[in-house]
Amino acid sequence: MPLDPISEIKSRLSIEDVVAPYVQLKKIGRNFKACCPFHQEKTPSFIVSPEKGLAYCFGCHKGGDMFKFIEYVEGVDFKGALEILADKANVDLAAYKTSGPKITKDEKDILFELQGETAGFYSRNLLETEAGQKVLEYVRKRGLTDDSVREFKLGFAPDSYDSVYSYLVNNGFKKGDAVRCGVLISKDTAGEKVYDRFRLRLMFPICDDVGRIVAFGGRALKKEDEPKYLNSPESPVYHKGKVLYGLNLAKSHIKEQDLCVVVEGYMDAISSYQAGVKNVVASSGTALTVEQLKIIKRFTSNLAFSFDMDSAGREALFRAVQNAQPSGFNMKVVTIDGFKDPDECVKNNPENWRKAVLDAKYYLDFYLDDFSKKYDLADLNQSKEFCDLYLNILKGVAHPLERDVYLKKLGSKLALPYAQLEERMKFLAKNSLRSSMSKIEEEPRKTSISLQEYFIGFMMNFKDRFAKYLDDKHADLFEDNLKNIYKRLASYYNAKACLDDSVLSEFTEEEKEKLQVYALYVDNRVSEWTSAEVEKEFEKVFIKVKTDSGKRKQKDFAKKIREAVLSGDSETEAKLLQEYATFIS
Ligand code: CTP
Ligand code: MN
Repeated sequence: MPLDPISEIKSRLSIEDVVAPYVQLKKIGRNFKACCPFHQEKTPSFIVSPEKGLAYCFGCHKGGDMFKFIEYVEGVDFKGALEILADKANVDLAAYKTSGPKITKDEKDILFELQGETAGFYSRNLLETEAGQKVLEYVRKRGLTDDSVREFKLGFAPDSYDSVYSYLVNNGFKKGDAVRCGVLISKDTAGEKVYDRFRLRLMFPICDDVGRIVAFGGRALKKEDEPKYLNSPESPVYHKGKVLYGLNLAKSHIKEQDLCVVVEGYMDAISSYQAGVKNVVASSGTALTVEQLKIIKRFTSNLAFSFDMDSAGREALFRAVQNAQPSGFNMKVVTIDGFKDPDECVKNNPENWRKAVLDAKYYLDFYLDDFSKKYDLADLNQSKEFCDLYLNILKGVAHPLERDVYLKKLGSKLALPYAQLEERMKFLAKNSLRSSMSKIEEEPRKTSISLQEYFIGFMMNFKDRFAKYLDDKHADLFEDNLKNIYKRLASYYNAKACLDDSVLSEFTEEEKEKLQVYALYVDNRVSEWTSAEVEKEFEKVFIKVKTDSGKRKQKDFAKKIREAVLSGDSETEAKLLQEYATFIS
């Protein structure tokens, strides 16, 4: 029987192969250790277990199997992770599609058509209705021409819960399809009661690279309406991390000019296009994903970023640079001093924007200048930060000659010798692959799982070896949430007289994940211990769990008895003392 794609991928790839490109793995016993790729840390708490197929950080508590890992590290959803891993494993996902209730090409066409019709409705509502005139005025006041409105198919979603609904149903579309692509929202699980998702918003249709409408972004028209931009959810035709806003119009220009300008927002892309810089796409407020970069690569290898210079924009730029370095992009950064974003720059003077794009700086020079302005080199701490941030970028430069040139430039800025910088760069390359622009986060708490979880971890990691301790009467040793888990483990063991992997089927996905993490924690801790040492540790843990629980109960008794004494309830007092006597005996 053919495996499902997930099992097939897992059978072809090992967790360590999936993780290795992102971190420096160090073998320790059965497992690997590394500094966490999800948060900044100096001592490694990220553990990879080939046997369990898990990668998990006990510092920031992120991770799981290879799919979870890719979701976190690439910032994609499960489907995105599936595609990335299928690609890596050479698994053809299409081959599996026929068997499941997956969407067929015809069904996709219906969603394209439905959203095309919806865009038409929004557009007429903007251009041909009275309510639309006000919105059109707003759009013009923001500097967009009527040509731009037409080219980008802007529209207006009326202040109504059922306009789009009625329109679509009257035109023969099914409610279910409209819900599926997010134009309507269903109130109940049966999908009977539905209403319009976008109300009183300026609508930006989002197209794929051939111009089919796959989703919408809707801008609030009242200041107090949240969120400012409301977007369609992911759907069979819309995967946020794989779409670039404006690409359908920009692609020929990108190819022609052999350059892709990347901005953050819808308005930025339209304004730029209108100002004559037509080789422009918007990442729509997220960091540029590896998937999006792959699409751009079909048209050019040259990028010019123009993100907002607030902290979110800086973070997005840093991420984009790091994502793009391995694919050999040549990158520049457009600076527009004095303006919040390209949209404002264009509105002020389109010529300034055109010039800014022409004057874009090579990213390695940009960061040198930018950091020089941002950090005070008379301050040692600031110099250190400058140095490390810059080296974190430099270490991703493929060509040694180029690294060499910029190491020298950095050296003269910081007045530091080349050899030391080089050494530091190598150190950073080893120790924190994905570093972030933001300040080093506080190291998370060290004791990452509780004693009781540790205890359960022994059961899960060694299965039968310690299962004999799974005894119903011990359930009371555990706090409520674990008591439940403990009881189910115990009853499984009692029924089957053994503990094995199929016990996991007794648990929810969330619980399963927790149990696997506890097991991984134990496995990592004891992986180089002898059998006897492991036995001893478990005994210690068991005793500690018991005494902790005893202390808790003792405290409980003490509290209740005190209350009884204070309230003069001698009957309760006597009863409690009796119970207490039995408890300690
Ligand atoms: N965005 C989003 N959801 C939000 C805010 C922003 O999806 N709640 C995305 C949109 O694609 C938006 C982009 O991030 O175009 C940039 O957001 P922002 O800088 O806040 O808005 P501007 O583009 O400057 O919007 P405007 O000029 O209309 O105020
Ligand atoms: Mn703006």
